[in-house]
Amino acid sequence: EAAEKGGYPHFVLKEIYEQPQALRRALAGRIREGRLHLSELESIQGLLAGIQRIVIVACGTSYHAGLLAKYVIEQWARIPVEAITAAEFRYCDPIVGPETLCIAVTQSGETADTLVGIRQARERGAPVIAITNVVASAITRLSDAVLYLQAGPEIGVVATKTFVTSVAVLYLLGLYLGQQQGRITSEQMREFVTALERLPEQIEHILTQASGPEDQIAPLAKRMSQVSSMMFIGRGVGFPTALEGALKLKEISYIHAEGFPAGELKHGSIALLDPDTPLFGIATASHVYEKVVSNIQEVRARDARVMVIATEGDEKIRQHAHDVLYVPATLEAFSPLLAIIPLQLFAYHAAVARGCNVDQPRNLAKSVTVE
Ligand code: G6P
Repeated sequence: EAAEKGGYPHFVLKEIYEQPQALRRALAGRIREGRLHLSELESIQGLLAGIQRIVIVACGTSYHAGLLAKYVIEQWARIPVEAITAAEFRYCDPIVGPETLCIAVTQSGETADTLVGIRQARERGAPVIAITNVVASAITRLSDAVLYLQAGPEIGVVATKTFVTSVAVLYLLGLYLGQQQGRITSEQMREFVTALERLPEQIEHILTQASGPEDQIAPLAKRMSQVSSMMFIGRGVGFPTALEGALKLKEISYIHAEGFPAGELKHGSIALLDPDTPLFGIATASHVYEKVVSNIQEVRARDARVMVIATEGDEKIRQHAHDVLYVPATLEAFSPLLAIIPLQLFAYHAAVARGCNVDQPRNLAKSVTVE
């Protein structure tokens, strides 16, 4: 087993560090010479031409990837998108038909609720695209087309590299649909593709810093590891990032954590804030940056400890936060793929400091095949 971990103390850490490579593999062959090629979708082009709505069905971390995709697909293709957790979708008598593209996101391809939900959608005539990491898994037999993550095996129960690659593949699909709808010019496409291709090296940069002498994440996580509760806030694509950051922390460190849309905090959850409840704000460069900063100021006013994920070069944010973890600059849509890396590392180090079984957390399974 030590050999399989490739020198890392845990599979989770190994898989966090594999993310640049996993992302390269997910993009490989799909972006060539600055252009997008999704040959997997060629056979269903006719089905896709008629769609008026998209429903993304998924659970857990895959659901968070779906929530992110809602923001970008709506923006790029101007097609309404709903992301819904599979355990709700299957019992809500879903309104889907041939005009609704259903996208199943499931790294294992075996999650029972997702399979049942997608079977229902198919029975109602909806075209289905599966996004999964496991070749020939059950979901692939229920789908009209499959986009594989190509992330390589993920042994740790918590999803890390399959999250990043699910988001990337959903984004590629969004770009494809945007192009098909005539909403993305070739110049914009070049800009997106260039930014996407830079992401693996940008993730590498974050990981290299985190393993060097200047690392802030591990010491910070260690200091925070004894708190009983934490909050994560963000807006726009920062919101699903906050949800995923909170989920990672809950799953492996057992610290109670919640993610919120930053603007919603004042409508209830702000009552939970006190000096013993630290908060992570996702404040990377975006069109809602100023709004996030003002939410962070509200939090500071309650004496909560504020940690922030920000874009390199943003010195101004330091005045609003006790700790700032920087990530490289990218397009707003792609920022979650960078912002999530320090949050994964934070969860990992907090869990190690608490002596938790990070590779196999209590009560969790890699794939949940019961309903
Ligand atoms: C389990 C795992 C989670 C995962 C979820 C969905 O609960 O512990 O990490 O996000 O299932 O899994 P899937 O294979 O459908 O993506």
